[in-house]
Amino acid sequence: MDPGAHSHIRGLGLDDRLEPRANSQGMVGQAKARKAAGMILKMVQEGRIAGRAMLFAGPPSTGKTAIALGMAQTLGPDVPFTMIAASEVFSLSMSKTEALTQAFRRSIGVRIKEETEIIEGEVVEMQIDRSLTGATKTGKLTIKTTDMETIYDLGTKMIDALAKEKVTAGDVISIDKTSGKVSKLGRSFARSRDYDAMGADTKFVQCPEGEIQKRREVVHTVSLHEIDVINSRTQGFLALFAGDTGEIKPELRNQINQKVAEWREEGKAEIIPGVLFIDEVHMLDIECFSFLNRALENELSPLVIMASNRGMARIRGTKVNSPHGLPVDLLDRVLIVSTRPYDSEDVQEIIKIRCEEEDVTLNEAALQVLTQMALETTLRYALNIISTAQVLARKRKSDKVETDDLKRSYSYFMDEKRSVQWLKEQQGALMFEEIGAEGDNDTMDQS
Ligand SMILES: Nc1ncnc2c1ncn2[C@@H]1O[C@H](COP(=O)(O)OP(=O)(O)OP(=O)(O)O)[C@@H](O)[C@H]1O
Ligand SMILES: [Mg+2]
Repeated sequence: MDPGAHSHIRGLGLDDRLEPRANSQGMVGQAKARKAAGMILKMVQEGRIAGRAMLFAGPPSTGKTAIALGMAQTLGPDVPFTMIAASEVFSLSMSKTEALTQAFRRSIGVRIKEETEIIEGEVVEMQIDRSLTGATKTGKLTIKTTDMETIYDLGTKMIDALAKEKVTAGDVISIDKTSGKVSKLGRSFARSRDYDAMGADTKFVQCPEGEIQKRREVVHTVSLHEIDVINSRTQGFLALFAGDTGEIKPELRNQINQKVAEWREEGKAEIIPGVLFIDEVHMLDIECFSFLNRALENELSPLVIMASNRGMARIRGTKVNSPHGLPVDLLDRVLIVSTRPYDSEDVQEIIKIRCEEEDVTLNEAALQVLTQMALETTLRYALNIISTAQVLARKRKSDKVETDDLKRSYSYFMDEKRSVQWLKEQQGALMFEEIGAEGDNDTMDQS
């Protein structure tokens, strides 16, 4: 997957009634599929989709991956969205089902509510005593609200934290008692006469009322997978940053599920089913498909979105042909959304959007030629040619891409059809993979 090729996609481009706008958020055309995607997202946001699955089916370069990414951007930061290409499942250093399990659990959010104790008030005075060597510091911090005033003893760590935030008398601050984190909320209004000394970007706030020590509820969302990793003793949470998590024991996952169920019952946690996108899903094999079938039955399941550009194709690991390369029992529970080839107007709009995104200028003739190329090869090929043509234009010291630059790019880089033709002509001169067993897989035709 190449996220760069989709960098112009910023959403699905729908209005409030889920009607597709002609050209919005980087999206053009493919109206029905975008609308269907929008409807499904609405169900996700209402929490009504766990255990559902949908499939984008259509020829190559018709926007299946683009629409899935548009969905991800619409979901908002709190709803997990995981994207994998089916082939990754085979290349990771773990079993296929473990890789899929991790992908599933990455796609389920747990919103956890915690109470923390904070100290909040206006700093009246800060007094710091250094030891002779300067290595240790002690001090006293006087804090007030409109109703009370308290003096706290400070240790070296706290003094450093306050110094880092450049806290001085007159600041309104908040200190998280468990983590020791200091945040500066602003300058007290009582000090507004210091304005000139503080600079124009100073934020003034009221001195807080009531108690200095307060309990506050904080909410954060993590994925089930993150909880798994953090709790697996062999891994530790550093594994989250290394990205190399290895296999996680099923017993541990059971324990975590139980714990999360308890939290839910106590009202401490809420499950947020997210979205798992499996691109090029026909690359999965029969074992993976039966895993998917079972996993979708699970109470803790995300929405699974799949994409395939295959028509009738052999299910990997079997001798059976089936629509889109998916077994019928899986297909049966899937909402299928089809994408269609673009007409020349849509293609031209998409080319224009990509040129803008890549900061490339085409002259009018070149735009027409490139549109024609896209219709005769694929949209993706035409979009790839944009940047190579720009390199050629720059070489002749022009900042505009002309027809000639496109023609030369076209002669340097083959599209799929010409590449197949060329391979046929070279018969015997190249090493061939054995075709036949897998060879009955056919991509859906573009026309
Ligand atoms: N409706 C659209 N609006 C804007 N850009 C699009 C649209 N459809 C496709 N594109 C862009 O065209 C290129 C090809 O589309 P995409 O990769 O989504 O096709 P696909 O259907 O996933 O193809 P494949 O089956 O080969 O994976 C991408 O750069 C994509 O961002
Ligand atoms: Mg794709």
